[in-house]
Amino acid sequence: MFNKKRSIINGFIIGIVILILLGIFLPRPKPSMQSSESPQAVLIGGAFELIDQNGAPKTNLSFHDQYMLIYFGYSFCPDVCPIDLQKISMALSTLDEEGMDTSDLQPLFITIDPERDTPENLNEYMKNFHPKILALSGSVEAIKTATKAYRVYVNKGEVNEDGSYLMDHSSIIYLMGKRGEYIDHFSPDISPTIMADKIKLVLTSDQ
Ligand code: NI
Repeated sequence: MFNKKRSIINGFIIGIVILILLGIFLPRPKPSMQSSESPQAVLIGGAFELIDQNGAPKTNLSFHDQYMLIYFGYSFCPDVCPIDLQKISMALSTLDEEGMDTSDLQPLFITIDPERDTPENLNEYMKNFHPKILALSGSVEAIKTATKAYRVYVNKGEVNEDGSYLMDHSSIIYLMGKRGEYIDHFSPDISPTIMADKIKLVLTSDQ
């Protein structure tokens, strides 16, 4: 009886040791990873030529030497996009409150609905969110190039009698490095605090 209990305890300890070793040695994505070793670095990101909410042309090279926090969505989105933009805003506010220097970080909201999201419309819409977020629009073709580069799923829904429609789309927030390389991504269920922490880690690891 005693021995059986003992072997259970031993088994338990061995199990824990194996889990710890796995945790140490298994490869995992590091937020500061900026090399092309990561498969995502090859798959996600690329060139874009768009127009910002103030009507100024912006390409991926406009943000060279800056980290980009990129979110794709559309201003007519009834639920997911405004919530995600709110989360990004809260994460940015957290960094502000902590006195973090975010001059190296450019948050971008790229529309997937350029037909309705004109720069003027986006300029109005972005007043609801953190002022640091820059919204980008462009031609249908230019937006297609950008969504393709970032592997964003977009599907325009049926157009209603009043001309309204929904856009089905994937909601992922990308953190890209200073040379446009993939660093990390956040799913919509992430908390703004954790997002802020992860961004902070990347910004401070660069010093
Ligand atoms: Ni949306």
